[in-house]
Amino acid sequence: MFVKSVSLQHYRNYETMELDTNNNVNIFVGRNAQGKTNLLESIFVLALTKSHRTAKDRELIAWDKDHTLLKAAVERKYGTYNLELNISKQGKKAKLNGLEQKKLSNFIGSLNVVMFAPEDLEIVKGGPSVRRRFLDMEIGQVHPGYLYHLQQYQKVLVQRNNLLKQMWNDRSSAHMQMLEVWNEQLVEHGVKIVKKRKYYLKKLQVWAERIHAGITNGQEQLAISYVPSLALDEDNEAVLFEQFMIKLSQMNDQEIRRGITLVGPHRDDLAFSINGKEVQTYGSQGQQRTTALSLKLAEIEFMHEEIGEYPVLLLDDVLSELDSYRQTQLIETFQEKVQTFITTTGIESIHAHRLQDANVFHVENGQVRR
Ligand SMILES: Nc1ncnc2c1ncn2[C@@H]1O[C@H](COP(=O)(O)OP(=O)(O)OP(=O)(O)O)[C@@H](O)[C@H]1O
Ligand SMILES: [Mg+2]
Repeated sequence: MFVKSVSLQHYRNYETMELDTNNNVNIFVGRNAQGKTNLLESIFVLALTKSHRTAKDRELIAWDKDHTLLKAAVERKYGTYNLELNISKQGKKAKLNGLEQKKLSNFIGSLNVVMFAPEDLEIVKGGPSVRRRFLDMEIGQVHPGYLYHLQQYQKVLVQRNNLLKQMWNDRSSAHMQMLEVWNEQLVEHGVKIVKKRKYYLKKLQVWAERIHAGITNGQEQLAISYVPSLALDEDNEAVLFEQFMIKLSQMNDQEIRRGITLVGPHRDDLAFSINGKEVQTYGSQGQQRTTALSLKLAEIEFMHEEIGEYPVLLLDDVLSELDSYRQTQLIETFQEKVQTFITTTGIESIHAHRLQDANVFHVENGQVRR
């Protein structure tokens, strides 16, 4: 898919802005604090109706205004979509081709984006919870049913942990029976989560490894592995269920002593290695960044498989941190098929032979010009 134009009104530091983005590569150049990230963020917001940076919608509205209006024309396989999103203190209103959408979920998905920003380095460098969140968001985007099981699992987990704490000094049979109930529910949803994670990671691995090899001219072999809290080799749900239940009963005493659930998908992790060495520990900054990037780019292929069209790629401030070879490979891999929006503080830091055809925009104090 392809974003033909974007227009903003009262969005962050943009008063009004109209942008013609009729090009596969759009580069936004400007000094710090001029509005480059705000612009990419606005495209992200048009896709998902929320920001990648904040959960507070009112931060998106220009300080002295009470609403903001975002518009985009998106060309897709089967026609052009006109997207309109109005955010005010009263809430959000979305229109698709002029028709108001009662449910935001009917609007989300009209535009698909993959954003890669500096904070995504945390997927590699940060703690396991960052990786789980990445995984959950990724799977959730293509498989909404997954999010249902995740929510249910988390609810049960909280209840179960509360019960475990009570059982520290009261192991009455009523409590034991209650624990049985929570165990079954935990395992029921847990098995669904584990199964989906295994399935999607298998796909993600293939794409990410291939992309990483491409970006590094075959010098680096990336391997992604799932580090499940439960080593479950099976795919059969009944067997998984059984194995998870057995593990819980084995951990029973320890769990009551500590008052928390010690096994399950809430303790899963991912591990990355390059040429057999763990990236978190031994990888250089550039390798860590390339690993995170390969994961994000794998997401692009993922979505393509799922929806039959490529999403739009948003690269905020990340290109200049890659060496020129990696930059060129990255751009050339996607230039033909994926529309890309890139921000940078200096165009001279972007080394790609084939950028002559790109749109270059200058961003200054909430204004954009060619
Ligand atoms: N709601 C808002 N209303 C008005 N201005 C805002 C609002 N939110 C943020 N800003 C301003 O927008 C400016 C530009 O922010 P942005 O993050 O887009 O900069 P940038 O060009 O990406 O800079 P950098 O190169 O440092 O990443 C900031 O100075 C900030 O004060
Ligand atoms: Mg920025």
